[in-house]
Amino acid sequence: MEEGQPLGWFEQLYEKADSESVPIPWADLVPNPNVVALFDERGIKGEGKLALKVGAGLGDDAEYLDALGFEVVAFDISPTAVRLARKRFPNSRVEYLVADLFQLPEAWRGRFDFIWESYTLQVLPPDLRRKAIGLIPGLLAENGELVVVSRARSEDDPEGEMPWPLLESELRMLERVGLDCLSFEDYTDGEAPPVRRFRSFYRKASDHLSGSSPGKPP
Ligand SMILES: C[S@@+](CC[C@H](N)C(=O)[O-])C[C@H]1O[C@@H](n2cnc3c(N)ncnc32)[C@H](O)[C@@H]1O
Repeated sequence: MEEGQPLGWFEQLYEKADSESVPIPWADLVPNPNVVALFDERGIKGEGKLALKVGAGLGDDAEYLDALGFEVVAFDISPTAVRLARKRFPNSRVEYLVADLFQLPEAWRGRFDFIWESYTLQVLPPDLRRKAIGLIPGLLAENGELVVVSRARSEDDPEGEMPWPLLESELRMLERVGLDCLSFEDYTDGEAPPVRRFRSFYRKASDHLSGSSPGKPP
């Protein structure tokens, strides 16, 4: 990440990966297995519901939501990522959009029945991460649900290198901006080498009208 460019490097990385045909470090080209496991456990189906994929990358997670029956909006700050996702899934029903989480359309506020966030918060520096955590609940419709998966650390662990593992206290902020936590797991996944992760699942509290504003149109 270049100094003073906490968001600009994503497009640079996708552009370089595309032009030089090198792999993108986080793009496994399959739906995130940590989230798929939660979908399976909870028997989540999407018929009649609108889902949002945050930081959609090359599109595998968004396509998985589509396969579950959701209508899907998937956005990424990188125009190249969005172009590549559309190219990989040319007949997709998913609406792939270039958008910045910090400047989303006002019309998205309170619109989504389901939001999937995996691995985007952990590539944001702490100030932007906290801002993002404050924004995401405002995008949910009443009773809307959110899944978040990230790397995990304890308060006394070193911050480490990017992708920076999250603290439980950072995710607990979601419960102060209008979400009920339905499950919170702190576990080690089956990757080699294994990674400690948080996987949490929320529902928008019906008596809470809004989180923070998602901001102005891009
Ligand atoms: C580490 S990748 C994770 C991609 C995908 N969510 C996954 O699990 O494989 C983070 C993604 O978020 C995107 N991103 C970063 N900051 C963003 C922002 N402010 N708004 C929208 N997308 C963003 C990046 O371009 C990148 O595709």
